[in-house]
Amino acid sequence: MGYVKLFTPVKVGSISFPNRIQRTSMVSGLSSEDGYVTDELIARYRREAKGGGGSIVVEAAVIITSKSPFNLRISSDEFIPGLQLLVKNIREVNPEIKIGIQIMQHLKLSRSGWRQKVEDFRREELLEIVKNHVEATRRAVEAGFDFVEIHMAHAYVLASFLSRSNKRTDEYGG
Ligand SMILES: Cc1cc2nc3c(=O)[nH]c(=O)nc-3n(C[C@H](O)[C@H](O)[C@H](O)COP(=O)(O)O)c2cc1C
Repeated sequence: MGYVKLFTPVKVGSISFPNRIQRTSMVSGLSSEDGYVTDELIARYRREAKGGGGSIVVEAAVIITSKSPFNLRISSDEFIPGLQLLVKNIREVNPEIKIGIQIMQHLKLSRSGWRQKVEDFRREELLEIVKNHVEATRRAVEAGFDFVEIHMAHAYVLASFLSRSNKRTDEYGG
């Protein structure tokens, strides 16, 4: 039989995954406009968790208070109860599956065309970025998630620090 390993457990750090299939993070547009978990969002994750994967990553959740309509949020404690309910629902249909949430801080954009760049952050604001990720992770743990995934792609803040377009002249550039 092919793909034998795919269906065997794997341990990553302290977490044991029942198999190696992961449903990756995919923004659904099903959260409420202000970022809360909705019944539609829960129904979607219940359906997908039933498939029997080893892990599921709940879609990119915003960790700062800037506007981002219909994006799931984990930017303050008021979002924890909804996320807790989501985790409970996923576990109900698949008690084995490990559940993560992807956390992301985006660079700000305005309608005028202005785009925030990594060069715009003052040094003290860099500590805020760290704190935002730490606080979001604490909320994820309180909501019952097994792990967090940090969004490091395209224009999100951490990817932008790693990009060649980062022209900072301090130790956060180059
Ligand atoms: C509608 C949609 C939304 C997505 N949203 C995210 C996201 O929030 N975070 C992320 O890291 N990847 C996101 N992706 C990428 C997927 O997680 C996945 O890596 C990509 O679709 C490649 O896998 P595939 O070849 O199985 O489609 C998204 C993809 C789609 C189609």
